[in-house]
Amino acid sequence: MPDPESPPLPPANAPGGALTGQLLGGRYRVGALLGAGAMGCVYRAEHVDLGRPCAVKVIRADAAGRGGYVAALARFRVEALAGARLDHPNVLRVLDFGREPGGGPCYLVCEHLGGRDLADVLSAEGRLPEARAARIGAQIAAALQHAHDRGVIHRDLKPANVRIVRRSRDEGGDAEEVKLLDFGTALIEGVPVSDGSVIGTPAYMSPEQLTAGPLDRRSDLYALGVVLFELVTGHVPFEQASVTALALAHVQTPPPRPSAFAGPLDPELEAVILACLRKLPGDRPADARAVRETLERVAHRARIRGTRAPREALPSLPVPSRPRRRLPIAALAGAAAVVGVWIAIVAELGTSGTSPEPIEVRLGSAARRLPDAGATEVARVAPEADAGAPSERAQP
Ligand SMILES: Nc1ncnc2c1ncn2[C@@H]1O[C@H](COP(=O)(O)OP(=O)(O)O)[C@@H](O)[C@H]1O
Ligand SMILES: [Mg+2]
Repeated sequence: MPDPESPPLPPANAPGGALTGQLLGGRYRVGALLGAGAMGCVYRAEHVDLGRPCAVKVIRADAAGRGGYVAALARFRVEALAGARLDHPNVLRVLDFGREPGGGPCYLVCEHLGGRDLADVLSAEGRLPEARAARIGAQIAAALQHAHDRGVIHRDLKPANVRIVRRSRDEGGDAEEVKLLDFGTALIEGVPVSDGSVIGTPAYMSPEQLTAGPLDRRSDLYALGVVLFELVTGHVPFEQASVTALALAHVQTPPPRPSAFAGPLDPELEAVILACLRKLPGDRPADARAVRETLERVAHRARIRGTRAPREALPSLPVPSRPRRRLPIAALAGAAAVVGVWIAIVAELGTSGTSPEPIEVRLGSAARRLPDAGATEVARVAPEADAGAPSERAQP
């Protein structure tokens, strides 16, 4: 396993195909760039001896810039360790991890996935019929259940980290299969982390994650609630343009009912989404298993009713105007006190509440936003509590 403490050299890779054609580890021939996130670039590759296709992820050159390569490498190592612990049809399979000698790139080898990111599916289709949303949600819940059972909390569940792959079924036809990926910000039981106090993607972060509280598996259930809400409505529950208002909304404002956007829904589907979105972890479903079972019942009922996913996208519905909730001054002050430091630091970075990119913040000392992993010292900490207007849509 590559040592994150060894003196790192800047990675040789950069977004845009710089690794294409190279041989990694003497056996993985790198092909075309498949995708890129805040931290990594993912390339198609092939095991040269076996002829087996795979995917290779490397740290983005710009993610590792400005002195942040050790942090990026540590996060990469977490992703590899999480992959080694997990073995589930709904979780991306990690096959190998290595580093080219002489300060070459560190790479993670995974199964190659076809299909599309769930974020792209949502961008193309707006919102999904409830049967399909429930089937996808049940598989995400199954992936979380497996991860949680193995002591892994994902911490960055969002549609961009879920891949939808078409799989042919033995009984004929094909089905959508979910693959949860990107465990780079995971918390792994027994593995110390050196990341900031607040890490995640603002639109999907639980109240306890936003306020640097202790995290457990129920934080992932909150993110699952946000994703489910988005699947059935086409919108995340809180879409404030200002990250300050977004953080406050997650901490204090009750979410709107998904049916207010999507029209009548299976009551159990609406109930489980709202249960996942409860502010206090103890008020959420006990575990991902319970959410998965509920979603499987919803999907089953929809199947019995003969509800089929239409070939075209659902018509978009007018978005009801959200009631502007005026918080009592005392409550507002309390919330500002809790999230103020975080808000001030993020405000300093200029991070938008609607940014799909993950952020990482060290409370009280330094802040950084992925992929610019170099720490930004923040001297001024001034809690503010604005109330931004809802934007049209949070996800691109
Ligand atoms: N195994 C894979 N096969 C095909 N595409 C992948 C694979 N892993 C990731 N991708 C694509 O690359 C993108 C970035 O991967 P991700 O692991 O989320 O990187 P980051 O840590 O930078 O967010 C994903 O959104 C997806 O489109
Ligand atoms: Mg990602």
